[in-house]
Amino acid sequence: MEIKTRVGHPLKQKTPCVVIGAFEGKLTAPLLKELDDSLEGIFTRAVKAGEFTGKNRETLLLHPGRRLPAERILVVGLGRERECRQERLRQASGTAATFLQSRKIVSYVLGLPVSGKNLDARKGAQALTEGIALASYRFDRYRKNENGEKSPAPEQVTLLVEKKIQTEADRGIAEAMSICRGVTLARDLVNEPGNAKAPEFLAEQARTIAAETGIKCTILEKKELESEGLGALLGVAQGSVREPRLIILEYRGGNNSARPIALIGKGVVFDAGGISLKPAEKMEEMKMDMAGGAAVLGAMLSAALLKLPVNLVGIVPAVENLPSGTAMRPGDILTSLSGRTIEVINTDAEGRLILADALTWAKRYDPRVVIDLATLTGACVIALGHHATAVLGNHDSLIRQLIRAGEETGERLWQLPLWEDYSAQIKSEFADVRNTGGRPAGTITAATFLQKFASDFTWAHLDIAGTAWEEKGRPYQPKGATGIGVRLLIDYLQRAAT
Ligand code: BES
Ligand code: MN
Ligand code: ZN
Repeated sequence: MEIKTRVGHPLKQKTPCVVIGAFEGKLTAPLLKELDDSLEGIFTRAVKAGEFTGKNRETLLLHPGRRLPAERILVVGLGRERECRQERLRQASGTAATFLQSRKIVSYVLGLPVSGKNLDARKGAQALTEGIALASYRFDRYRKNENGEKSPAPEQVTLLVEKKIQTEADRGIAEAMSICRGVTLARDLVNEPGNAKAPEFLAEQARTIAAETGIKCTILEKKELESEGLGALLGVAQGSVREPRLIILEYRGGNNSARPIALIGKGVVFDAGGISLKPAEKMEEMKMDMAGGAAVLGAMLSAALLKLPVNLVGIVPAVENLPSGTAMRPGDILTSLSGRTIEVINTDAEGRLILADALTWAKRYDPRVVIDLATLTGACVIALGHHATAVLGNHDSLIRQLIRAGEETGERLWQLPLWEDYSAQIKSEFADVRNTGGRPAGTITAATFLQKFASDFTWAHLDIAGTAWEEKGRPYQPKGATGIGVRLLIDYLQRAAT
């Protein structure tokens, strides 16, 4: 897909379709008035008939015939103008892209607003580009549609801009394309079925990213993990014949002496629960249990493509959690890399085990900030549903910065408390800590467990259990993997870097 800018008037474009925007309550804005006049009142008639009100995500398709050079005009609702920020633009261009893709229109012109009261041209063009690129994503490696063809992705999209913002808009488009490569990679990895993605598959993906971008990649295999003593990670891995990996990517875009930011992502390639086996219903979705790891790989790729001026280390503990004759048992006691012993109450609480060792591993990079992402708890889905990622941590300003990045990107976060009081729930009779805290506050007790391994850091934990997978489909989010975290992390890093 190619997106480029052009200076021009929306109603003077010769193209299969021009997309224009309409704000709620502003249906007589100059461009819409002009459209209506050239179409002899067709637009006002649709409005009077109640077919279009300008609400967010609404669409109205018009065929102007010989009255305009474009074959079609697609009017997209933008909602209230004062609420129009990046997320609205992403939704609008995403809605248009989905609409046009389903009608097999692969070349069109976007006449949507690029800048406005609450929006600069670079961010606006970035948002419009993200909406299109992310809406047209398909995971169709393994299938053909009803007609035996794959759904056609857009080929040529032109963004109309004013001359004075064209350079900024071009920059926004280029940035969005680099960011969307990371999101697409993350979605692909998460959508990939379990049979195709052993831990070694993720390691191979990391090597590929490193080869393309020139960043450093280190992979630890089972033998090294044993000699280094990552007992918690190995405990989870021992139920599967597919051996674990610890994947480490290092990107150096900052000062030589600057301490890195560490990004850690849960990489459970399939989570059957282990001996504490999960119920069959929806178990197939547990191929997404490496979405945190995918977000880290995607963010490392995008950060390197964008040449962000920061030093980063990405760490992905990759394992498979299966029941078998060699699997760990409830009641087993594991010795983690930190030296702390962990009583395994439930083998299905495996994410925190591998993250514990990954957090300890991160210490050798002396990171100034550590952020982990994990599809960690079903309790998070109960608490926040599919509309927010839970954020917990030990540093308020880091959490605030992440929440802000969430608002900017539409990958919203909601903070849960991490009070000392919750610690009592993970005390063990037999070991230093236990891996579950009972039913109350499951997301918090999981984070409380992680905190024990993050006490040396400025640290935040993102529980993406409810946001890594989309069941219904949204404006720029087809069903399946969302690639959550990549855009959030990049937005955070862009601000943290400057
Ligand atoms: N990967 C799951 C959490 C999960 C559930 C992610 C639903 C996405 C959707 C995690 O490993 C898990 O099984 N957690 C357990 C913890 C419990 C045993 C304390 C859970 O949430 O049930
Ligand atoms: Mn589990
Ligand atoms: Zn899991």
